[in-house]
Amino acid sequence: MNTATQLPVIERVSELRAAVEAVRRRGGSVGLVPTMGYLHEGHQSLVARSAAGDDLTVVSVFVNPLQFAEGEDYGTYPRDLDRDTEMSAAAGAGLVFAPPAEEMYPQTPITSVTVKGLNAMLEGQIRPTHFDGVTTVVAKLLSILGPGRAYFGEKDYQQLVIIRRMVADLCLPVEVVGCPTFREPDGLAMSSRNVYLSTGERPAATVLWRSLQAGRDAVVGGSRDPGEVEAAIAAVLAAEPKASPDYVAVVDATTLDRPDVLAGELRLLVAARIGRARLIDNLGVSCD
Ligand code: PAF
Repeated sequence: MNTATQLPVIERVSELRAAVEAVRRRGGSVGLVPTMGYLHEGHQSLVARSAAGDDLTVVSVFVNPLQFAEGEDYGTYPRDLDRDTEMSAAAGAGLVFAPPAEEMYPQTPITSVTVKGLNAMLEGQIRPTHFDGVTTVVAKLLSILGPGRAYFGEKDYQQLVIIRRMVADLCLPVEVVGCPTFREPDGLAMSSRNVYLSTGERPAATVLWRSLQAGRDAVVGGSRDPGEVEAAIAAVLAAEPKASPDYVAVVDATTLDRPDVLAGELRLLVAARIGRARLIDNLGVSCD
């Protein structure tokens, strides 16, 4: 129990199952908001969305070692469970599940969930083991909890598409709810990793959002050539000396394939490094 909020903070799988089972026995519905903690308003919007429709909203706070490669920021990823619990309570959560790594992985896992192909493009080209770590832990959280709904931000758009596909392929009895990205007033997408930006780097970080808007303007202005739209995005990124782009992509919003000619629902995606922060962002565009 967090003494400030009176919100139960559960560390053990067996205790979580018992708490959730009690709600289900009464006919109540359960929503899961999986997070790695260090919550911001974007996470809170997912919690609030669940709290509006589910009888119990569970926020999981777990920095999942499986989704970090050697040399990435697993050790330094920001952590503050008290603050996360307070923010979860304020947004309407009923409990927080914050297992230690030994509880989630009591033995080295030799079982992994892979969403082939989708896990290797875009982010997967830069972080080849990342999405297998994500899908494995999300499958495990869904299996532990059995929620009727699970909530994910569109900020991690490729992750959302991959999780939807995993749920469809495995017939998991859960509805995946995608929720819009939350932005700072200057357009920077909220992310726990924004904390890595220095004061000098922070204004430069808006370049991702500005570049996406340039891409959207190109589509809205009539461009149907993905290369042309990507070039419009890349030109804005190139004008910011503090940003080192990892990729720029214009893809089909459902399959993440790059179309030859732009049509239907599209997603523009960018990733760039600014100092020690690696930032991603995306924007949906309709093209008829
Ligand atoms: O988006 C995240 O924070 C993580 O990838 C998730 C879904 C909680 C799995 O660790």
